Amino acid sequence: MTPHNEAKKGDYAEAVLLPGDPLRAKWIAETFLDDAKQVNGVRNCLGYTGTWHGNPVSVQATGMGQPSTAIYVHELLETYGVRKLIRVGTCGGLTTSIKVRDIVLGISASTDSSINNAPFSPYTYAPAADFELLRSAVKYAEAQMLQHHVGGLVSSDTFYVDNPAENYSTLAQHGVLAVEMEASALYTLAARFNARALAICTVSDCLMTGQEIGSDDRQSSLDTMVEMALSVALR
Ligand code: HPA
Repeated sequence: MTPHNEAKKGDYAEAVLLPGDPLRAKWIAETFLDDAKQVNGVRNCLGYTGTWHGNPVSVQATGMGQPSTAIYVHELLETYGVRKLIRVGTCGGLTTSIKVRDIVLGISASTDSSINNAPFSPYTYAPAADFELLRSAVKYAEAQMLQHHVGGLVSSDTFYVDNPAENYSTLAQHGVLAVEMEASALYTLAARFNARALAICTVSDCLMTGQEIGSDDRQSSLDTMVEMALSVALR
């Protein structure tokens, strides 16, 4: 048990999917897993463990943003011994080549958060995805012919930005494809605990064009992303 998690040691599988939204965690558990049992309900930040094609797997909500994500991820790594963490989330595209419904596999995660400033001073740490998970996700996307991009994410502390095109232009010019709010903390903590992590994000909106995903597309895109994450997590 931890201050934020009532699960006992052994309640989580070695591989955990990480949506931000607690109800999405419930939906993933009920839709994709067999014999799913709720292992955490503290603050309604729901966690479940079940099996997928006979393999144990868990899903734990992180809430929104890096401080919340860092709490759940740190405890999954330190207390529950989790070894593989795959974020399943949404992101906003930062270049016109990124369309809604596309999948962005985050090779790195820049950030405007100060979380890593003190621990890494005087350096600027470069949080990065696990290469094996990334390679496996790319292979899956190619085999399934999914529209996907591999590139940088930026984990922002701010959802509402006044002038996105201007705000993110330098990052976009440096290969950052999309903005979300959690991957940087995930990659940093996975590295700290010598574990593996990957952020798989569906593009829900394009900040350069104002295009947004429709509700039917959102559901089928989420299905595709979860299948991909489960396949990569349990390969
Ligand atoms: N900003 C931050 N996170 C996001 C966005 C965004 O525009 N879209 C989806 N996740």
